[in-house]
Amino acid sequence: MPSWTAGLLAALALPLVLPIALGARLSRAGVARVQPLRAPSARHAMAVDASPAAGAHAAADDEPDDDDDDDDDGGAQFMDDAAAEALMLADTDDDAPDPNVEAMLAALGPAVGAADADHRAGFVSIVGSPNVGKSTLMNTLLGEQLSITTPKASTTRQRIMGIANEPGWQIVYSDTPGVVKPAYKMHEGMMGAVRCAIEDADVLLVITDVLETGFRDERMLRRVRDAGVPILVLVNKVDLVAQRLAHAPAVAGKLGGGAPAARAAPAPDARATHGGARAWEGAQADGEEGAPPPPRQLDLPSIRAWWRAQLPAAELLEVSALHGDNVDAVRERLLQLLPVHPPFFDKAQISDRPEKFFAGEVVRAQIFEQYADEIPYSCEVEVTAFKEADNKISCEATVHVLRDSQKGILIGAKGAQIKALTDAAERSLYRFFAKRFSLRLQVKVSKDWRANDSFLRQFGYLR
Ligand SMILES: *[C@@H]1O[C@H](CO)[C@@H](O)[C@H](O)[C@H]1NC(C)=O
Repeated sequence: MPSWTAGLLAALALPLVLPIALGARLSRAGVARVQPLRAPSARHAMAVDASPAAGAHAAADDEPDDDDDDDDDGGAQFMDDAAAEALMLADTDDDAPDPNVEAMLAALGPAVGAADADHRAGFVSIVGSPNVGKSTLMNTLLGEQLSITTPKASTTRQRIMGIANEPGWQIVYSDTPGVVKPAYKMHEGMMGAVRCAIEDADVLLVITDVLETGFRDERMLRRVRDAGVPILVLVNKVDLVAQRLAHAPAVAGKLGGGAPAARAAPAPDARATHGGARAWEGAQADGEEGAPPPPRQLDLPSIRAWWRAQLPAAELLEVSALHGDNVDAVRERLLQLLPVHPPFFDKAQISDRPEKFFAGEVVRAQIFEQYADEIPYSCEVEVTAFKEADNKISCEATVHVLRDSQKGILIGAKGAQIKALTDAAERSLYRFFAKRFSLRLQVKVSKDWRANDSFLRQFGYLR
């Protein structure tokens, strides 16, 4: 830990900090720090502070022994479930900031700022349509496979912060659900999280791809335009254009600079995958199954022209999030745009979410990988137990489905499918946490949970 951090922690009045402390740290490197230095925003702070569970958590932290977060004991390092849940709900909170919290933050500011006059920090929200590569982009920017990614659209359902830390700066990225027209209540909660991420941002990364000519949701586009912060429009998957060029050199002259050199190994079904997955989720969102996929585009000049007309103040960059092309340039530009500010979170922390949340996400990703059609969109994974002992994590989770028939599909003949899912998820969890992992899954019919307020609250989509 850099010495200025130590000094800074000592300088902070802990009883003042801990009631607004939010993040359970995601500790894959085994570094034992939990608490963010400051709440990401008054809104988030308030959401936790206002919940009775968080109050209890804060009270416990006033006891002297609990102030010591330097030991390696993982169990004590994470936020209790209720507080974590309150944090997950923070995304949909639309209330005004609490003046008390604002006052606390203001009081903390100078003490932290004195430590490093040039430190830059801020919130960067990544927004766009389903399946344009938001999670892949965040992971590439972080250099960590934090947010789950699958070939299918709308994998991400909640706002997830990924925190990049360097000695001179901290960028708090927010990965967000793809923008869809809400077809059921769960989508409304997801779009609430997107709106909140737009409002909180210091810089917006609007991501599109070479298969999409424009952003279909006019209202969300207006929110972006009205956010009053710098915007970078990233045209992702330019590697697909390069592949196309490799096969049809005649159109090369039409394209401007920015596209990377053609790659040796084209992936001929990449477009089919992107288009097909988006068509499925689009059909879901529009409530009409089998709707035709949106027109496929690889026409960079018209994509650029569309965005220049819609967001004249935005800067345009072409990237390949998957291959990392031009991603360094994005980061460099963000660092120029972010304000000089002390870190918002402890600099050993890499997400605002607890480990338990990511365990559920990894299982959900395996459901997206292993099941077809509507099944992944009908499942929610709820982690009911998460314990670590002797360097081994034991986890129990419930997969909620909408209907009886889906329970049968999940489990499969003689339990073969659920066994395969459990095995694959365990391997994936082992890779994610770098620890031995035992997983127990059960499947439960939670009738029409996507449309039911009480389930949506329980799963963190609504408050
Ligand atoms: C929502 O689910 C709960 C069970 O958790 C059930 O009691 C309630 O009737 C459901 N509400 C609706 C509107 O279906």
